[in-house]
Amino acid sequence: MSDRPLGARGDLADLAPYISPQLPAKVRLNTNESPYPPPKELVDEVAEALRSEALNRYPDRDANALVDGLAARTGWSREGLWIANGSNEVLLHLFLAFGGPERTCLTFEPTYSLFSNIARIAGTQVAAGARGPTWEVPDDTAQEALDRHDPDIVVFCSPNNPTGAIESASAIEIALQRAPMVVVDEAYIEFARRGSSFRPMLEAHRNLVIVNTFSKAWSLAGARLGYLMATPWVIEELLRVRLPYHLSTFTQLAGVAALGHEDAGAERVAAIAAERDRIAAELGEMGLDVYPSQANFVLFETGDRTQPDPERTRAIWQGLLDRGVLVRHYPSSPVLASTLRVTAGLPEETDAFLEALRTTLEEM
Ligand SMILES: Cc1ncc(COP(=O)(O)O)c(C=O)c1O
Repeated sequence: MSDRPLGARGDLADLAPYISPQLPAKVRLNTNESPYPPPKELVDEVAEALRSEALNRYPDRDANALVDGLAARTGWSREGLWIANGSNEVLLHLFLAFGGPERTCLTFEPTYSLFSNIARIAGTQVAAGARGPTWEVPDDTAQEALDRHDPDIVVFCSPNNPTGAIESASAIEIALQRAPMVVVDEAYIEFARRGSSFRPMLEAHRNLVIVNTFSKAWSLAGARLGYLMATPWVIEELLRVRLPYHLSTFTQLAGVAALGHEDAGAERVAAIAAERDRIAAELGEMGLDVYPSQANFVLFETGDRTQPDPERTRAIWQGLLDRGVLVRHYPSSPVLASTLRVTAGLPEETDAFLEALRTTLEEM
């Protein structure tokens, strides 16, 4: 018998594991986390609340306190809310319940790579539509992709990771008219201009699902907490696929405490957005092509976009890392191989990144 008597499912044989290296760099600007820890009072509250919890018992299966708090904050009915361990798990639940071998999911690439990965993990067929020159989804491209693939689920990401722009409202409208389910992942919406969210469209569209996370603007990536808003029938189906007690007591307490400190986040979000704009402006002054971003990161070309040079991009990425700055690169993406994505962090992290980039470029 071989040393690996049972390989993974055949349909996953070519699925690469998610890799964004967690390297010990001094300045980590590669995973779009918040550079700020959550407020101290929030952490104290969680620690205090934990003391009176019966950890020998399973957690509240329906996370009632957290669902109530989130309903109050979002103004969306508790019957239409679903909470899981990060929005990645929210997406997994969606695909487990609504995907599967007979269903097709349509994404517009490049976008968050986990959409297609998670869909495939849940056995769902994945089809890819394209984006335009500045990564928007043109109406005719959306229409053409919908006609060609006849998807059951269409996924948008707004602002889109890794390109940074708000999705086209008309492309989403077209998808809503055509597909049984349209998911809009708004993981970074708090960093965008006011009024950019597609949340107001929920009332009028029973097939729209909005996903969000506590990992970015809420400074709680370590707590693993994400949620979706949809019409209640979506939640009724999701109940079929979740594991019992999927949200730990710790996670629920962290979420409830976070909702009590909502205001503490606004200043930090504004500071991060200011760093994002400074990064974009400085990169522009260095003569690099920068994609306008409404998120907490900036995607930029490392050279002439019309003549992609992945080797040069890799060398720049390595040059930054050698100087203690870790950013994101996409060596295996056909369209992003000459780009880098940098997360907006603290002002001093922006300084370190810009200086490392200048030196790297000068030395090349
Ligand atoms: C668009 C998008 N959705 C979801 C996630 C995952 O978030 P979570 O930490 O809530 O699983 C990320 C993380 O980078 C993301 O970029």
